[in-house]
Amino acid sequence: MTVIEQLIRIVRERQRRGVKFAELSPHNLAVLGMRRTPVPAMSTPAQRFAPPAQPSPVAPAVDLSAAPPATPPPSAPAVFPPPPDVSSADWDALCQACLSCQCCGLCATRHSVVVEDGCRTAPLMFIGEGPGADEDAQGVPFVGRAGQLLTRMIGAMGRDRASADPAKAVYIANIVKCRPPGNRNPLPEEGKACLGYLHRQIALVKPKVIVLLGNVALKFLTGRSGIMSARGKWIEVCGIPAMPTFHPSYVIRFERDAKQFHDTKLLVWQDLQQVMDKLSEN
Ligand code: URA
Repeated sequence: MTVIEQLIRIVRERQRRGVKFAELSPHNLAVLGMRRTPVPAMSTPAQRFAPPAQPSPVAPAVDLSAAPPATPPPSAPAVFPPPPDVSSADWDALCQACLSCQCCGLCATRHSVVVEDGCRTAPLMFIGEGPGADEDAQGVPFVGRAGQLLTRMIGAMGRDRASADPAKAVYIANIVKCRPPGNRNPLPEEGKACLGYLHRQIALVKPKVIVLLGNVALKFLTGRSGIMSARGKWIEVCGIPAMPTFHPSYVIRFERDAKQFHDTKLLVWQDLQQVMDKLSEN
């Protein structure tokens, strides 16, 4: 690297760090072919422009004022605190931990921490992916369009989201409790940061059966991908029988195609019938 390149690099680096002025030695000014302009004194010696080791014998003129605007430094990866240990938390402590969670980047954009809906003693638990815009605004899972379909499915099972009667009640939660911007899938680190809360919810509710809604719930709770092949077959989540099925937002994608909509709903309904059978076993 020539001396001039070295100087330019040092100046740009300082510019990037927000340093507005650099005091140049007469020697360096000569190297850069610049006229000296009055510059404010730097506040500390450490901020002073360090002269390069070797002057170049040939000094092409460089106008640093025409330098391209400084590009912001690549933002350092955010460091988040590790998720708290909630493995023995009661409901109050668990909810408090969720509501104050700052353990992943989703805390920066959320309006609500969407913890749960339904009855904490329900024998049937639904697990979705994460809040969308409506859920983020209302603080309740599955209240948007997909939620309305889920509510109808729950009704078709003879159950009721608002009921506290174990014969009818359900409990609803998500893999992540804060909305991923633009409804993207949760990132692995976001799911990982949130999973301890969900595991504790499962342990406290102790449902008889869990329904995993879609790929994200399947992936984060079992490590398996592929809802197409997994749906309709019993697996276990935290030692509890779990039925993977399609996410309601996948189903409503077919709303404009009557046959596909009907066929996809039918598959979900077959999965939910297995769930109802399991719930009625002693
Ligand atoms: N989709 C989900 O997976 N969860 C919600 O709460 C809403 C939409």
